[in-house]
Amino acid sequence: MRNLLPLNRPALVLAPMQDVTDLPFMRVIARRGAPDWFVTEYFRVHPDSCLNPYILRSILENATGRPVFAQMIGCDLPSLLRTAKQLAALPVAGIDLNLGCPAPIVCRKNAGGGLLRAPATVQRLLAALRDAIPGRFTVKTRLGFAGVAEFPALLEIFRASGIDGLTIHARTVQERYQSPVHPDCVKRAVEIMPCPVIANGNVVDPATGLAFLRQTHAAGLMIGRGAIRNPWLFSQLRAAFAGTAPIIPTRRDLLDYVFELYDELARESRRFVAGAHVQRMKKTLAYISHGLEGGFEHDMRRATTPEDFSRICQIHLDAQTPLPAQPPAGSKLFCGFEALGP
Ligand SMILES: Cc1cc2nc3c(=O)[nH]c(=O)nc-3n(C[C@H](O)[C@H](O)[C@H](O)COP(=O)(O)O)c2cc1C
Repeated sequence: MRNLLPLNRPALVLAPMQDVTDLPFMRVIARRGAPDWFVTEYFRVHPDSCLNPYILRSILENATGRPVFAQMIGCDLPSLLRTAKQLAALPVAGIDLNLGCPAPIVCRKNAGGGLLRAPATVQRLLAALRDAIPGRFTVKTRLGFAGVAEFPALLEIFRASGIDGLTIHARTVQERYQSPVHPDCVKRAVEIMPCPVIANGNVVDPATGLAFLRQTHAAGLMIGRGAIRNPWLFSQLRAAFAGTAPIIPTRRDLLDYVFELYDELARESRRFVAGAHVQRMKKTLAYISHGLEGGFEHDMRRATTPEDFSRICQIHLDAQTPLPAQPPAGSKLFCGFEALGP
């Protein structure tokens, strides 16, 4: 990540999120205050894999002006080496290895977060990939599989691996998304790692972002769900770092964002099917509508047609009311963000 880090403030990164952070989403978010870099959704890597053409577009057609890392997930070394070589030939900022995905189907294959149960394998993969990747090679990890007690040994492997950056989603695999994060572990990594460490998990607004940085001294923040909910978050954090007034978005700003995303995604779909498109949008909307007063979330669950979708958005969002800075306390979707404190 060296040479990519801003000189006088922490870095801000959009977290990779499967089926969300594709090329249209990158475009829409960049218009509201781009992150310093992007990371693609993961490319699945196995002996028969080829590069997913849809994810490839977020590299080849990225016109946001911000670099993009290509993320791989897998455990078969020859396939990872083959894929890393293919990706390194593309206009990527670097190559990232996913050591955090908690999906049971991924972990069962000992990929993603499942690999954290096999530190010796992690060590072997990192060594071989480090040798093979000429440019930046980074890792995105969790703190362990079953408990944070696993982290010191993993950290030692990361420290000795020669990677160029470490992003830590500060939970274990078994904690999935259901717990507060563990800033103390990120702080320890910042002290030990010879490369920049990026803190990830539960940043939902400038206050939680600043608190996470204060508690960890990380080189930057990676933000996922909080940036879907509030695409102005990168701009707001930049304002907080600079001590200037942040944008305070309104419901109408949110309406523009939702409609823009709807249109961008529709434009890019190979075969537009209205009902399927509404369902696709509803998955992303779950993070956006969550906890907004007035029944938006409830009504949106019932939308099946583009007309429903548009009407429900207009009814609930066409207003100049400022948006709440944080999700509701006790949120199930943004579980434990309150523990980061202001
Ligand atoms: C819908 C969804 C898809 C995700 N897909 C990926 C992925 O492809 N690669 C990855 O490294 N992490 C993935 N993650 C994890 C996020 O990158 C991030 O680590 C996690 O959401 C915690 O950050 P947040 O609290 O800011 O959302 C995904 C998370 C979500 C919610």
